[in-house]
Amino acid sequence: MQLSFAAPQTVGAGAWVVGALDGSVLTAAAQKADSACGGALSRGLKVSKFTGKSGQVLEILAPAGLGVSRILLAGLGKASEFDGNRAENLSAAINGRLSGAGETAVTYEIDVPKGAKLKPGDLAAHLALGARLKSYAFNHYRTKNLDEYEQRLQTVTIATAAVSDAKKSWARLEAVAAGMFFARDLVNEPPNILYPAEFARRVKANLSKLGVTVQILGEKEMGKLGMGSLLGVGQGSERESQLVVMQWNGGRKKKEAPIAFVGKGVCFDSGGLSLKGGAGMMGMKGDMGGAAAVVGTLQALATRKARVNAVGVIGLVENMPDGKAQRPDDVVKSMSGQTIEVLNTDAEGRLVLADALTYTQRTFKPKFVIDLATLTGAIIAALGPEHAGLFSNDDKLSNRIAEAGKAVGEPVWRLPMGPAYDKLIRSKIADMKNIGGPHAGSITAAQFLQRFVEDKTPWAHLDIAGVAWQDGEQKSLAPTWGTGWGVRILNELVAAHYEE
Ligand code: BES
Ligand code: MN
Ligand code: ZN
Repeated sequence: MQLSFAAPQTVGAGAWVVGALDGSVLTAAAQKADSACGGALSRGLKVSKFTGKSGQVLEILAPAGLGVSRILLAGLGKASEFDGNRAENLSAAINGRLSGAGETAVTYEIDVPKGAKLKPGDLAAHLALGARLKSYAFNHYRTKNLDEYEQRLQTVTIATAAVSDAKKSWARLEAVAAGMFFARDLVNEPPNILYPAEFARRVKANLSKLGVTVQILGEKEMGKLGMGSLLGVGQGSERESQLVVMQWNGGRKKKEAPIAFVGKGVCFDSGGLSLKGGAGMMGMKGDMGGAAAVVGTLQALATRKARVNAVGVIGLVENMPDGKAQRPDDVVKSMSGQTIEVLNTDAEGRLVLADALTYTQRTFKPKFVIDLATLTGAIIAALGPEHAGLFSNDDKLSNRIAEAGKAVGEPVWRLPMGPAYDKLIRSKIADMKNIGGPHAGSITAAQFLQRFVEDKTPWAHLDIAGVAWQDGEQKSLAPTWGTGWGVRILNELVAAHYEE
């Protein structure tokens, strides 16, 4: 898809998209389009239910006397509510519709509505972002009928009076989109192709060229570090476990403590000997969504040369049952020194994160650490695909994360923690067990992780089991199974608070 910004001029071909505000108020561009097509838009308003509400579209096909194939009047909603998110959803939805209709080119001419808190250049860039995110496809494994799946829409032009502002704003957003695409690719890849070593190889290949230092630790090195918790998860797999450490040193002060992101990278979660059933196992190639989000974030930060020191650490394993597999009842010793009674080998994500968290804190003494993980089915029961679960020991960090999520359309919801929940993971013979009781499964998982937070390091955990991939109805900005959730919220958090 070719994307460009241009000063408004006569649209000669393809689709022409203009806007109307709630209450059927045509914007200036829409009035221009209306007179160009002899008043067909105003006539359309009279004979349709279109009132300019956000999400509504009025389409005039093949207007007489014009080169354009169609004019679309897009509802912008109330001016005061129109923001970057709305703009993205608008272009994504319309691009989807046009692509389905066989259209190959589109020009967006959307004015900033009076009263909206959005600059013209930013509006143009967000329209571009919606178009770009919607254009993602994952067709590597199709050998037939590609024309059915490939995007028809090839040329997207965003008309704006602020071309140079738009390009500047877009450069930052484009970096984020690219990070999300890499994350989506990783989540969508099948597990026979994307096993830990291959995941690590791709990270190194893609991020090294952007100036990120990428270090890969294998089982031998992790053994020396005492990572018995992570290694126990991978021991039933033919594939070697890996720890990938990414460093982006973009801050002005090179020695300043970094911020840190940690990701769960279970390339396939069969459950291990506590084997999942058939239905529950399907989709467990995506159990590395947290790791993918961390990688995508580091990519976005490096691409836009963010002025921040940031590290990403991901634990990559495959959770499989075989003769060497870890047993329910095993006790393992983590890098922190704490022992864990493994009562359910399907509660493996926390075992991987435990050692990754310890490694991250001891190696980098970060300002804060945020982990992302497709950790519990219980968070899907609680929040569905609308919010990720947020758990934290720090109100300030927690509030900042929640704000960032709201700003970019990746909302999170904080859940409680506390000693009463922590009690539920006491073990009869070791320092803790890896499962709680039948209730509050997402919280007991978070309590487990918190036991690996050292010296009151500000810490937050995002349980992204409900948002890393999507079944059924697809969100307009994410056209495939893997969503790339996490890259945007973390990038926004950094941009809003941690760049010098
Ligand atoms: N990867 C799963 C969590 C998950 C489930 C993610 C469904 C996405 C969709 C995790 O490793 C797991 O199996 N968790 C168990 C924990 C339980 C054994 C305490 C769960 O949620 O059932
Ligand atoms: Mn599991
Ligand atoms: Zn898992």
